Amino acid sequence: MSRVIITNHPLIQHKLTLLRDVNTGSKDFRAMAKEIAMLMAYEVTRDLPLEDFEIETPVSKMTAKVLSGKKLAIIPILRAGLGMVDGILELIPAARVGHVGLYRDPETLKPVEYYCKLPADVEERELIVVDPMLATGGSAIEAINSLKKRGASNIKLVNIVACPEGVEAVRTAHPDVDIFVASIDQKLNDHGYIVPGLGDAGDRLYGTK
Ligand code: PRP
Ligand code: URA
Repeated sequence: MSRVIITNHPLIQHKLTLLRDVNTGSKDFRAMAKEIAMLMAYEVTRDLPLEDFEIETPVSKMTAKVLSGKKLAIIPILRAGLGMVDGILELIPAARVGHVGLYRDPETLKPVEYYCKLPADVEERELIVVDPMLATGGSAIEAINSLKKRGASNIKLVNIVACPEGVEAVRTAHPDVDIFVASIDQKLNDHGYIVPGLGDAGDRLYGTK
């Protein structure tokens, strides 16, 4: 079964409170989402492989460590996932970015795919799928299905706010995918919104409501 890792560093908890606050406008919402994603990336990349590297400090020679150049790609689920990309790219600037476009049908709450553009060598890469919200889990499950259909096998999912229903659904559908979340909130309401959550992440990021 996959692991569920709660990244609740005090800095993340503080910034998440600002993100949730209904009085936070789009400019600050974008800044907080970016900073939380960057802080979460620190935990997500904890197991990246290292290799020895010979250097000389001003004092002596030494064998130091550098990243062994594992191929990564960040995969935002459009549109709200875009709000997490730049924060992660600041830590891993060499990562490629692939996009999966999905929206939730407001009636059925089922995800509908409208776009998919991935790096050509997606099957060789570790993929970090990002979306601020994990609600029913439908969007994340469908995005991961799409990636696996195209040959990907090494996938992590990163959400800022999740709920128990979404976490369970993803773990059942994709038991090989570890899930990183800043918070697992109480529940889903009848409209498919996370309670207490933060509202509609896409609308708050881009000021479309
Ligand atoms: C939101 C959110 C997730 C999805 C989560 O996207 O960004 O992708 O809902 O819900 P689920 O777990 O029930 O699938 P939305 O469909 O509102 O599209 P948007 O990002 O374009 O606003
Ligand atoms: N999508 C959002 O943006 N927010 C929710 O609470 C649930 C789905």
